[in-house]
Amino acid sequence: MTDNVVFWNGAFLPDSQARLPLLTHALHYGTGVFEGIRAYHDEGTGEVLLFRPLDHFRRMLHNVTLLNIRVPHPPEDLTDIAADLIRRNGFRADVYVRPIAYKSSARIGVTLPAEDSFAMIAVPLGDYLDTRKGLHCGVSSWRRLQDNAIPSRAKICGAYVNSALAAQEARDRGFDEAILLNEAGHVAEGSAMNLFLARDGRLITPDVASGILEGVTRDTVMTLACETMGVHTVERVVERSELYVADEVFLCGTAAQIAPVTRVDGKTVGTGKPGPITLELQEQYGRAVRRRLPRYAAWTEPVYGTDADDAKRGAA
Ligand SMILES: Cc1ncc(COP(=O)(O)O)c(C=O)c1O
Repeated sequence: MTDNVVFWNGAFLPDSQARLPLLTHALHYGTGVFEGIRAYHDEGTGEVLLFRPLDHFRRMLHNVTLLNIRVPHPPEDLTDIAADLIRRNGFRADVYVRPIAYKSSARIGVTLPAEDSFAMIAVPLGDYLDTRKGLHCGVSSWRRLQDNAIPSRAKICGAYVNSALAAQEARDRGFDEAILLNEAGHVAEGSAMNLFLARDGRLITPDVASGILEGVTRDTVMTLACETMGVHTVERVVERSELYVADEVFLCGTAAQIAPVTRVDGKTVGTGKPGPITLELQEQYGRAVRRRLPRYAAWTEPVYGTDADDAKRGAA
């Protein structure tokens, strides 16, 4: 069994030595906030590049305030810790970094106690969803959590029960992934990914008040579509039936990357094959995360430092 190095409450240590008391508040009540960050291995240079780590850590530091959790590191230090973690594990592969800040009190009671902990784990990770074939998605019978129940924009641990119920139901019904509607019956997102449709050469995505996570990949997609392809995105309320008449549908997220959807509820989307906008975006995204688009070099952070200077030049 591998015993990877993890970061926990200020120190690097083997995973086997990181032990939580069974009464840990977050385990019982879901009182944690996590992130998911990818680092991409460039086989040419051997470098491993964290993708938009500062944006992920900034989002996390905003979101922890919802649960009164204090993380004792600024985003820049968290980025250094993530890079150090990958180096200490010697990973030369695509890696997924999972920071988590949580309520660590070991007392019974559901208020938000003062004790906080912070951990970061890194694991090698290939594709989370199949990004080559078209996915078959089903609209879930579970509704996305309302902002007034548990805010979806915050990656709160307990909120992922909602995602797990929807993702499992989708698999049990023979779908690859779920599409969740919000309480108003409008399209929100996938279980752990944002959703876009393409219609008449434009992209459409649920707006930030639709019960979604404000995804970093969502932002990357809108930026790349606009700046490299001249494709504009409209952020607005999306009705369920728009999924059935769209030219293209795709899901996107750090883990999922850009995953084309070719059937929704058994109905064929567009031609039934991944569409041209989705395929071009996959291409541009693949280039951006491996720092092959100089304009977006500042989005990537080299872990081993072999081409840190190139990144700074590209960002200038
Ligand atoms: C519910 C949910 N929506 C969307 C996303 C996509 O967000 P990002 O692109 O920041 O990874 C995720 C993944 O983290 C998620 O869990």
